[in-house]
Amino acid sequence: MTPRQSTAATAGSPPEGRDFQPADVLNARIMGDERSMYALFDYLREHDPVARVEHPDYRPFWSLSRYDDIKRIGSENDRFLSAPRTILIPTAFEEALLERFGTRNGLETLIHMDRPKHLKMRKVTREWFLPRSIESLRAEVQALSREFVDKMREMGPECDFVRDIALLFPLRIILSILGLPREAESTMLKLTQEMFGSQDPSLQRADSQTAGLDVLNDFGAYFSEVIEDRKKNPRDDLATVLANAEVDGEPMNVLDQASYFIITASAGHDTTSAAIGGGMKALLEHPDQLDLWRKQPELDIQAAKEIIRWVSPVRHMVRTATEDLELRGRQIRAGDNIALWYPAANRDPEVFEHPNRLDLRRDPKTQLAFGYGSHMCLGQHLAALEVSCFFRELLPRLKEMQFTAEPEWIHAIFVGGLKSMPVRYALD
Ligand code: HEM
Repeated sequence: MTPRQSTAATAGSPPEGRDFQPADVLNARIMGDERSMYALFDYLREHDPVARVEHPDYRPFWSLSRYDDIKRIGSENDRFLSAPRTILIPTAFEEALLERFGTRNGLETLIHMDRPKHLKMRKVTREWFLPRSIESLRAEVQALSREFVDKMREMGPECDFVRDIALLFPLRIILSILGLPREAESTMLKLTQEMFGSQDPSLQRADSQTAGLDVLNDFGAYFSEVIEDRKKNPRDDLATVLANAEVDGEPMNVLDQASYFIITASAGHDTTSAAIGGGMKALLEHPDQLDLWRKQPELDIQAAKEIIRWVSPVRHMVRTATEDLELRGRQIRAGDNIALWYPAANRDPEVFEHPNRLDLRRDPKTQLAFGYGSHMCLGQHLAALEVSCFFRELLPRLKEMQFTAEPEWIHAIFVGGLKSMPVRYALD
């Protein structure tokens, strides 16, 4: 799903002693560090909430940073389309994707589709991700939480919480739902990091456009084998559902199947890993909230959703206007692209009281980390269950934890989060 992005926009440090510019949303170093990212969004929300962004490496677009605007555009899916421009990709790589796949988005996954195809494709896996289906996984997710917290205790008294725990736990769960073996973990982790971390020199495969296409090809090749296997040997797993799915009475085509695998496997773990890594950091920085959750485990999904609001791992999605509109005095034309910045919405002081305070008792329904409208995250109930089960297992056993080095952020403008967080701790 996610095309490789050049490092051009990562050059330069966060601006000091000057105002932010709208094009700073494309600076992966500013966007990759929560302090500079939220400072940028505070600035834009106040001074330029409907900002025109021009940058030599990207096609122009509008950038929204206020909650109400983001929710409105996100919910009107027939007026603001997900195709043809779904996320922000440098023009040069868009051209490479166009040549290879026939669209500037590259693969066409659920997030890239509009009605009527989107609804039909989403229906294929809808049942698997409904709240009652996800609730039936609670015992398995709890058992895996215990396994990972036990692993942490064995590794103690020090580990890298992100690399050793947060990156691996959600991966194990989504692979189990898909029905893939544990041996697939390292391949999936590497491919997803190369895809989402393509602006980060320490995660990208190589600094060339063809490396980005190679990552997509490798994903496709791996899943094509799984599809062939499940056609011959059906099992009770999501891979079997995708391999044998029909749309409009016809077998789903191979490219759609591979794309479906890629979106499920990739969106299903990196985002949730970012929420768990960033959530741990937030809880250490808000010891009153850590203590509250330890004493009131029943906060459960509500607390998990506040953690997800806090981290907002998906930084943006793009929509394309089908008609002219005026927004806060700016004239948006049919065909213009509009970026919706979810972390900006989730810290909007007009909607959230004390938005920069972690408050596990906050109303979980308001936040937009899972998007809004017909593309709202398919895996949202799974993500909340994973975050909740993990911390409900960890917190009662955690006697102490401190950072032993400054946490490091991934340089990214699409899915962001921590790449490393060394800690020292004591666990029961
Ligand atoms: C904290 C974790 C997560 C966050 C913050 C998150 C965020 C999002 C957002 C913002 C969208 C909306 C895209 C749009 O509006 O165009 C989305 C879509 C999606 N998410 Fe998640 N997600 C998370 C976890 C998961 C998990 C665990 C899965 C498991 C399969 C998943 C699968 C998907 C899929 C398949 C879509 C596409 C839905 C569609 O376009 O109809 N996500 N997610």
